[in-house]
Amino acid sequence: MLTFDFETYTNKKIPKEGWQEILKKVEQNSMSGFLNPFVPSSLLDQIKSKKEEIKKHSQVLVVVGAGGSFAGCRALDSIFSSYWNPSSFSLLYAGYQLSEEYLERLKNYLKEKEFSINVISKSGTTLETNITYQSLLAFMKTKYTEEELKQRIFITSDENSKLKMEADQNGYTFFPIPKNIGGRYSLLTAVGLFPLSLILDIEELLKGAQEGKQYIEEAYQYACLRKAMYDEKRGVENFVFYEEKFLPFGEWLKQLFSESEGKKQRGILPISSLYTRDLHSLGQFLQEGNPIVFETVIDFDGMDSLQQTAVSSVCKAHQKNTPSLRIHGTDCSVYTMGQLIYFFFLSASFSAVLMDVDPFDQPGVEAYKEEMRNVI
Ligand code: PA5
Repeated sequence: MLTFDFETYTNKKIPKEGWQEILKKVEQNSMSGFLNPFVPSSLLDQIKSKKEEIKKHSQVLVVVGAGGSFAGCRALDSIFSSYWNPSSFSLLYAGYQLSEEYLERLKNYLKEKEFSINVISKSGTTLETNITYQSLLAFMKTKYTEEELKQRIFITSDENSKLKMEADQNGYTFFPIPKNIGGRYSLLTAVGLFPLSLILDIEELLKGAQEGKQYIEEAYQYACLRKAMYDEKRGVENFVFYEEKFLPFGEWLKQLFSESEGKKQRGILPISSLYTRDLHSLGQFLQEGNPIVFETVIDFDGMDSLQQTAVSSVCKAHQKNTPSLRIHGTDCSVYTMGQLIYFFFLSASFSAVLMDVDPFDQPGVEAYKEEMRNVI
């Protein structure tokens, strides 16, 4: 369950009405499919049976994807998987950067492991993902037969993409991404569900998301208060966590909010911090520096009492220069994370509508790709 405190450390009035109008605007957009986080049972069955197969022959699944095609999975993996248990099944990540050194190290590690890969790209045209896939495919061909590759390569993409053809031609398993759901809103489709099925209960995650609808008013209130901060010239939002394992969740939030609302020279710049670590660096700025920041603090019951004391003490200390919005989970279960993910999907799309930009496109991301294509 989630609870919210948007007033104590901001001195702001919470808006009581208006969410229906904003929701309608989001619903009218053809990319609003994320609003209904229901997955056909045939897909769930396919995911379950492939998961069982993978576990028989692999110790590792390498998720090959960029942006919304990997960030959410990486976030939940960090929260729920047993990093300290070397014998457990692991997810590893590639395809979101161009570092050859990283890829070589990964391949070196994989030499000693039995592994499979899941290539994830809605468009099928992302440079980083495609280069990494080709490189890993060549490496796999030195280790596995064509028949084995059919058991070890999983492709998640749009039905009309080149990657779908690649899967069909080679007999690889294919998972579709719905047309009406874009990259950063796709965590609760096969994009996140298939790799996550190897480390957590995806039905519980979906149940949380489906029941996350109960927080629609709070998502609207959060979006309105973010907008109020922005109008007061607070153009930076610091997502604050008190446990290291949440830092990739901060990366996911940065991706979700900056690609959703950073357009037409508008939007709030999202950053993320680990407290109390960053109180010994950013803390000085937040306490006494340029008052351009507000904080969204995300914490859970179950943290030790010293950490709990720190949360309220820091909010109080920062209050004058850096107001805090608080989101609290009564536990950090897979179900509650499903609710939280749905809450942030709603609030990111509402925030973009309040900024009068399209939440679901990312025209600016094309610019660097164009420059690179010209050179390559
Ligand atoms: O949110 C988005 O749409 C982007 O971040 C994409 O997820 C990212 O660019 C990767 O795109 P694709 O899945 O087409 O490879």
